[in-house]
Amino acid sequence: MFSAIPVAAELTYPLRRQVLGRGPTPAELDCALTDWGHYGVIIDGGVAAVGVTHPRALPVPAGRPVPGSWRIIGMAVDQGFRRRGLGTVVLTALLAHVRSHSGRRVWCQARVGAAEFYRRHGFDQVAAQRDDRIAGPQLLMSLLL
Ligand SMILES: CC(C)(COP(=O)(O)OP(=O)(O)OC[C@H]1O[C@@H](n2cnc3c(N)ncnc32)[C@H](O)[C@@H]1OP(=O)(O)O)[C@@H](O)C(=O)NCCC(=O)NCCS
Repeated sequence: MFSAIPVAAELTYPLRRQVLGRGPTPAELDCALTDWGHYGVIIDGGVAAVGVTHPRALPVPAGRPVPGSWRIIGMAVDQGFRRRGLGTVVLTALLAHVRSHSGRRVWCQARVGAAEFYRRHGFDQVAAQRDDRIAGPQLLMSLLL
């Protein structure tokens, strides 16, 4: 049984660079990371899965305004460990982090290949698809907690 634990921000960077093609956001490097949650699954001393969440308003109006919106970024599972529940374990830890900070909504810019993963966890698409230079087509997806 795998579990996700809080980790130092820096520990998430290599897997994010490897899987997602981008490292930490400028905000992640510049701010004191108050309230940010960095979580990871460590297997045999290696980082097998990571994810990050931080307070951030949803970038489009979607339904009624919800105070306490959090963004999820950096969801990455090592290629050799996919479809074994690690992404779910990380996402569950992120949602627990948001709830413990009284968050009411989580959202993400989901790559099309990950959209089904988020749908499976109750997220709905809330804006039209957009193209990102690195990630390619993305869907803005949201979940009310
Ligand atoms: C998306 C990602 C984080 C999912 O992690 P994971 O550990 O493979 O996912 P899980 O094993 O927890 O999957 C849970 C469920 O989500 C759905 N799911 C996950 N990956 C899927 C895929 N590629 N296609 C369709 N459904 C998928 C399935 O319903 C799955 O349950 P099942 O395996 O019993 O059918 C992982 O595939 C990944 O790192 N992908 C590359 C990077 C990426 O796209 N990150 C997201 C950026 S927005």
